[in-house]
Amino acid sequence: MTKIAPRVTIAMDGPAGSGKSTVARLVAEKLGLLYLDSGAMYRAVTLLAIQNSVKEDISELIELVKACNIDFRDNGQRIFLNTEDVSVQIRSPEVNKLVADIAKIPEIRHEIVRHQQRIGESGSIIAEGRDLTTIVFPNADYKFYLDASVKERAKRRFADLQAQNVATTIDAVEAEISARDEKDTSREHSPLRAAEDAIRVDTTGKTIDEVVDFIVKQIKTKNK
Ligand code: DC
Repeated sequence: MTKIAPRVTIAMDGPAGSGKSTVARLVAEKLGLLYLDSGAMYRAVTLLAIQNSVKEDISELIELVKACNIDFRDNGQRIFLNTEDVSVQIRSPEVNKLVADIAKIPEIRHEIVRHQQRIGESGSIIAEGRDLTTIVFPNADYKFYLDASVKERAKRRFADLQAQNVATTIDAVEAEISARDEKDTSREHSPLRAAEDAIRVDTTGKTIDEVVDFIVKQIKTKNK
């Protein structure tokens, strides 16, 4: 395992399918860091809204979020909502469809961001999502912005879904990714964008290992 400075914060942003979750998880393993999947938290809140049949009443959802417990176990591999393991449920098509609309509510973001910052205070961490480099950890020691073409990202997502025997087409996956990109980048609060001081990594045509090695090398170089 590579030794790095006593306490580090690594923030990583990028659009759906850019590979950031897989990459961040592997970098966490290599460097012995906490792994924070911030999208999973917005997904858990979306599930909370579905479970409680929250429709238009946003204030009801905000109260539910304030009162709920969201924690990670197995170094970010499993997520619990009020003691229930919801790691699988948060990836359902129903959550996929609704999550971008829930994630754009500023009061919800406020609660979730505070929770993420508290997790960040507990030790060295790599956190990934859409606003980690800009809003959650603006003073992170390292910032990365991962991207890839829409076609490549759709190809990856399609392969994942096929492996899970989900019946879909590459065109449908590309349309879903484009729609999510549009919502994530155009929303009023904390839209997805690359921080000015983030290192941009285009993962198109690169393997996961190549991207992980590049990132680990950047961290080692800066730590010399
Ligand atoms: O990374 P993901 O696909 O699991 O994210 C699910 C949704 O949550 C995505 O549409 C955008 C939103 N999200 C966000 O708004 N801010 C984050 N830091 C992470 C995710």
